[in-house]
Amino acid sequence: MATIIDGKALAAKMRLLIKQGVDDYKQKYNREIGLAVVMAGDNPASQVYVRNKIKACEEVGIKSFSYTLPKNSSQNDVEELVKALAEDDKINGILVQLPLPAHLDAEKVLKLIPTAKDVDGFSAENIGKLAMNEECLVACTPNGVMKMLEHYGINVSGKRAVVVGRSNIVGKPMAMLLLNADATVTVCHSRTKNLKAECLNADILIAAVGKAKFITADMVKEGAVVIDVGMNRDENGKLCGDVDFESVKDKCSYITPVPGGVGPMTITMLMYNTLQAALFRR
Ligand code: GUN
Repeated sequence: MATIIDGKALAAKMRLLIKQGVDDYKQKYNREIGLAVVMAGDNPASQVYVRNKIKACEEVGIKSFSYTLPKNSSQNDVEELVKALAEDDKINGILVQLPLPAHLDAEKVLKLIPTAKDVDGFSAENIGKLAMNEECLVACTPNGVMKMLEHYGINVSGKRAVVVGRSNIVGKPMAMLLLNADATVTVCHSRTKNLKAECLNADILIAAVGKAKFITADMVKEGAVVIDVGMNRDENGKLCGDVDFESVKDKCSYITPVPGGVGPMTITMLMYNTLQAALFRR
């Protein structure tokens, strides 16, 4: 039976440190740290995420500014709001919750977020800096995964890491972080020829596919470290990851559960990035 990586406990520990950093910042500069959270429409998952992000802000002492625009907002409405936030000195970080309603061009909106306030780490400049291993704001989920590996003393250098999924939000930055940490990295995706064989090669397997219980025990090498980035509902409507936890847990050395694994770390890293954004500005 594998060691279960407790993301919730690590997130709680990190939030205490972040709160200390926020308090120090406030004392030193005599000002608040502000995070703007922009949502359009009423996507139920987004509502939960946004609520949790605002709660996390309260926990660490960051001032949140929440904007919920109606579902039928125009491109111009959203763009004008983001432009105003970009100019606003009280705002250190801007987060536009995705997905936006289908009639809106999210890419155009995201391009209006200045690199220094891009606490999601989605901008071309932040991704480019990450590729060059320069200091930048790093996408929250993959950065949270790296913190978990570090905390559990899992050495990445020289290991074979396989990332399943190539999204701009998780897969690509995850691969770059692992590469920066000297892993030998393979990125798999829907066109990968023999996915099972690739996964069986992994010392560290990162599942970021978006399909419930997609990674099964026969795809996992004995003793591998398995990180599950998925957040899905199973056939009974129960929250589950991309990994078939029950069968895989007996084969690997470490595994993250869903819920309680990567999820709590993602929001914690958003708080971390917001503090970083405030500190970078000084
Ligand atoms: N929607 C799902 N995950 C994310 C995320 O990490 N950031 C934003 N902005 N929207 C999301």
